Amino acid sequence: MNLIFATSNSNKLKEIKNLLPKEICINDLNSLNFFEEIPENKNSIEKNAEFKASFIHSKYNINVFADDTGLEVGVLNGEPGVYSARYAGEDCDSNKNMEKLIKKLINKKNRKARFKTVIALVLNNKLHQFEGIVNGTIAHSKKGDKGFGYDPIFIPEGYKKSFAELSLNEKNEISHRSIAVKKLINFIKIQLT
Ligand code: IMP
Repeated sequence: MNLIFATSNSNKLKEIKNLLPKEICINDLNSLNFFEEIPENKNSIEKNAEFKASFIHSKYNINVFADDTGLEVGVLNGEPGVYSARYAGEDCDSNKNMEKLIKKLINKKNRKARFKTVIALVLNNKLHQFEGIVNGTIAHSKKGDKGFGYDPIFIPEGYKKSFAELSLNEKNEISHRSIAVKKLINFIKIQLT
């Protein structure tokens, strides 16, 4: 089965290709000569993922999936959530986003948080969604230099290290994205039998 992954992020493509059985062949948006940014301006992670997949499906009429991720902090009513990439402003970087979050949590005892990934798949004109969640807590300061985004301040449940202190393989064993991807793969495998 051929599928398009609605991303231009080659790291994400590589990460997901590693998990796929050989019957499933995926390519990214570059393979369609599509180099625009698909807007991610909906008010939920689910709607952003759905919009991206539906946008590409309606343009090319192909089977396609898209993902969207957010970090949700309970005591902040789910912030930064759908705004995770631009929490400290449109032109911000990961460091500024983390600094803003650490500041907001100063003196907060409850530091529980979770990463949530939603994958939207349009297969044979039907929409399906797959969710991956990893629970954890927000550290008081940054630790580690691996990974990306909020990894240096996210301590997954049952661990003493931040995501940024884990190897890529260790992170992939438990991460929100890999949980959602595994659900997607299982679903596709069933369709192929
Ligand atoms: P995206 O939807 O995958 O682009 O993710 C939105 C934002 O969430 C990113 O810009 C990152 O700040 C953050 N994010 C997503 N996945 C991760 C992760 O695995 N670790 C840390 N931060 C992440």
